[in-house]
Amino acid sequence: MNMKDIIGKKRYGGTLTEEEIKFFVDGVTDKSIPDYQASALLMAIVLNGMNKEEMTCLTMAMAHSGTILDLSFADDITVDKHSTGGVGDKVTILLLPLLATFGIKTVKLSGRGLGFTGGTVDKFGSIEGFRYEIPASEFPYYLKKCGMVISGPSPNLAPADKILYALRDVTGTVDSIPLIASSIMSKKLAGGADVIVLDVTCGSGAYMKTFDRAHELAQAMIDIGNGAGKKTVAVITDMDQPLGGSCGNTLEMQEVLRTFAGKGNTDVVEVVCRIAAECIKAAGKANGLSGDDLLYACATRLTDGSALSKFAELIASQGGDLKDKVNPVFKDLPFEAMRVTAPCDGYVYSIKTDAIGNAANHLGAGRKTVNDQIDYGAGIKFYAKRGDRVRKGDVLCSLCHGTKAELADEVLFDVMEEVLAAYEIREEAPEEVPVVMEVLS
Ligand code: URA
Repeated sequence: MNMKDIIGKKRYGGTLTEEEIKFFVDGVTDKSIPDYQASALLMAIVLNGMNKEEMTCLTMAMAHSGTILDLSFADDITVDKHSTGGVGDKVTILLLPLLATFGIKTVKLSGRGLGFTGGTVDKFGSIEGFRYEIPASEFPYYLKKCGMVISGPSPNLAPADKILYALRDVTGTVDSIPLIASSIMSKKLAGGADVIVLDVTCGSGAYMKTFDRAHELAQAMIDIGNGAGKKTVAVITDMDQPLGGSCGNTLEMQEVLRTFAGKGNTDVVEVVCRIAAECIKAAGKANGLSGDDLLYACATRLTDGSALSKFAELIASQGGDLKDKVNPVFKDLPFEAMRVTAPCDGYVYSIKTDAIGNAANHLGAGRKTVNDQIDYGAGIKFYAKRGDRVRKGDVLCSLCHGTKAELADEVLFDVMEEVLAAYEIREEAPEEVPVVMEVLS
């Protein structure tokens, strides 16, 4: 078998065999296949696609390029939830403690921020003392302690994906449903959970800009998950505006605390409860509840203190500092440095969410290079969202930096321009879009 023939076969629209796909992934992992040949095959896949069987073979080969976690020590069904990314997405942070109140155990491997999207481990990183680099060998200890563990990505989990992702990033081959689906699902399968629940975001703040593309990706990942024998559910959610009331690390953690106290934004509560309900049903822990009753039970436990006490257990379990037993101690607090106001009367018609994510990063909430320091207090608080009626001069949002950080006026003014350009205000109101657009299983 040789790479030239495999590239040629895909270039002319052929279907690759399991052996050919495995040859490619093994060669990428042990570096016997040079980058230029790997990139050529990636481009052929972008142009000619892959069928279900090829996608499943590619995913399995990438998952098996490193360690597959064995979560049998949990002695119970385990659930993994994954989001395809967004701005203001604090769903995982609320979901894990909520699921714990239903007796569901979670081992969550989360990434740092990527591009305009925020990363869950960076949000936990805003808490003084919180350790998120947990070796896999310690997962049983943490799971026994509080039924949840959250960790940054493990280097030996689907290493082929890491190599291929880096190549895709520089060869214009990221945007391909078979490649995105296999990249995400290889890490999920290597993560070892019994149930996989996917939050497939859709809109200007997501990889998938349209509903049809999000649907196609969701279906591809479900096919792969089912093909690998895992119960897999996907929820398509709106990311055509930032989720909730803020983006930025400490800001989002503060919003999480407000949500546990019953003062959260309704879009966040709806997404969390709908995803929780899918996880609970798939894990067989619904105790006879279904439909609205199950959603009601989720919304109740989210805000009656039950989920908050599980959240505090998680923080304490991983070394995070708490005051009054439930409130995290933050490394830095947000300081509202500038308010961005509406330039005219009208309705907030749309918000370019990727531009908002980039603006938050320019304030210091994200990294430009992997080694950059984050300003945990940096981010944006939203006062007006899509569909809100505003008058000229009303505050749309505020730009924050950390109390320990300095931010030059030029940077603030540049970010203000960036944010203003992201808000579109029109005389007519936009159509309402549900935040949970579809559930596929
Ligand atoms: N997230 C991933 O893990 N992989 C992709 O290809 C895109 C988003």
